[in-house]
Amino acid sequence: MSATSVLHPTSAPGGVHPAGPCTEVIFGASGDLTKRKLVPALYNLAVSGFLPKDFALVGFAKPAMSHEEFRDRLNQDIESHAGRTVDRPIWNWFLERIYYLSGEFADPGAYAALGKLLEEVEERHKTQGNRLYYLATLPSFFGTVVAQLGAAGLVEEREGTWRRVVVEKPFGHDLDSARKLNADISGVLAERQIYRIDHYLGKETVQNLMALRFANGIFEPIWNRRYVDHVQITVAEELGVEQRGPYYEEAGALRDMVPNHILQLIALTAMEPPISFDPEAVRDEKHKVLKAIAPMAPEEVLQRAVRGQYGEGVVSDTLVRAYRKEDRVAPDSGVETYVALKLFIDNWRWAKVPFYIRTGKRMPRRVTEITIQFHRPPLHLFRRAGVDRLDPNVLVIRVQPNEGISLNFGAKVPGPKMEIGGVTMDFNYSDYFGVQNSTGYETLLYDCMIGDATPFQRADMLEAGWAVVQPILDVWKALPPRDFPNYASGTWGPAEADEMLRRDSNKRWYQKD
Ligand code: BG6
Repeated sequence: MSATSVLHPTSAPGGVHPAGPCTEVIFGASGDLTKRKLVPALYNLAVSGFLPKDFALVGFAKPAMSHEEFRDRLNQDIESHAGRTVDRPIWNWFLERIYYLSGEFADPGAYAALGKLLEEVEERHKTQGNRLYYLATLPSFFGTVVAQLGAAGLVEEREGTWRRVVVEKPFGHDLDSARKLNADISGVLAERQIYRIDHYLGKETVQNLMALRFANGIFEPIWNRRYVDHVQITVAEELGVEQRGPYYEEAGALRDMVPNHILQLIALTAMEPPISFDPEAVRDEKHKVLKAIAPMAPEEVLQRAVRGQYGEGVVSDTLVRAYRKEDRVAPDSGVETYVALKLFIDNWRWAKVPFYIRTGKRMPRRVTEITIQFHRPPLHLFRRAGVDRLDPNVLVIRVQPNEGISLNFGAKVPGPKMEIGGVTMDFNYSDYFGVQNSTGYETLLYDCMIGDATPFQRADMLEAGWAVVQPILDVWKALPPRDFPNYASGTWGPAEADEMLRRDSNKRWYQKD
């Protein structure tokens, strides 16, 4: 162990409240997530003054490594992962409180060693016995690690300390396995100790959805079936499956993106106003709206769910290979890399308003956005003036990239004729608030440390999400796809998804190319 420095990087600027003393333990610390996201995010928190000065980090994983070797590993590429020039004194302060322990996740002896190391580290860095355990392991180890932590007495909250566990996605493989995992971990931990993470909830624009809806008088009165024609959510990626073939072959786009990220976007868009920002008040409302999403009957799946798989094509001027040619992917794989769904929320506010969602890999560009499309005004007034079409007003919430909000509306084109042109009012986050350098994990990690579970999935929310997806998984399993690959890389997905909207009064996916 290296000597503890007394230097704390930043004196917290006004309004910044550093979290209280704690130690974070990362299981699976030799993996990419630790190096690319978790450590850079903790470092960024240190820079902005949110990390407690009494802090330590312990990495736990299988490979044998010394503390120094682990620190060296994290040192590589920190600059690019943190997204900013590294402040050496702060980075060195941070490195001095990083430790590593090698062990098997299923070996009780390793947890005894962990307990001992934690006591030493806590003594040295005055972290007061508060611990945040982060499960960045393969999902098959989630239950094992929690059981072992419980058996070793490492999650008991004694004498005013707190012990919390962060669980990464994927949380289960289907409804049954999600329920089982919930049951397994809640046999060891109280629900308030469990933080099921969804990194979409750490994105600034996603967090802003509640502010947009509830801090502005103009939106809420029109946020319902009387004014909204339909809602679209697009999560498109340029990337293919990269090195994640084996994971993706088990998951597919539906499991990978829908029960978590996309349903969370729907929940924030459609939920009722909570009675306060208390975590349970917010999560109760999210749970309610997820429960209100009507699960599809098998025959509805055929009408309202479209799957696709990318073939060869051109993305960003580069020829890329088909999914079936990716590393460690079956040459006849039936796994979907694209999914589009038409969902309904069966409640008072949203009855009969379709929510069209789509997500896919190897699309023409990376974009995540939510569009709220309002009813068209009556045309008769304009028809007499020779206008035969009015576009609907569309509120676009851009989650990434170029976070912002825009409103499309019609304006008169200057000139003697009554001609209506589409114009846009545009707000870009970076214009007002500057570019935020973050990994997306900063707020989430900070929230875990201060015990704010608002942006985390509760057991009931998660199960409600899987209940929406399960009927689709069942039908798709029973009817393997026959037309894969059915969209070329670099296109917006299979024609069938366009057709699904066209059938609904000639609707189209909202898209600015
Ligand atoms: C992950 C999925 O949860 O989210 C990936 O497993 C996907 O397949 C990623 O690429 C997308 O996240 P982001 O933040 O890049 O939109």
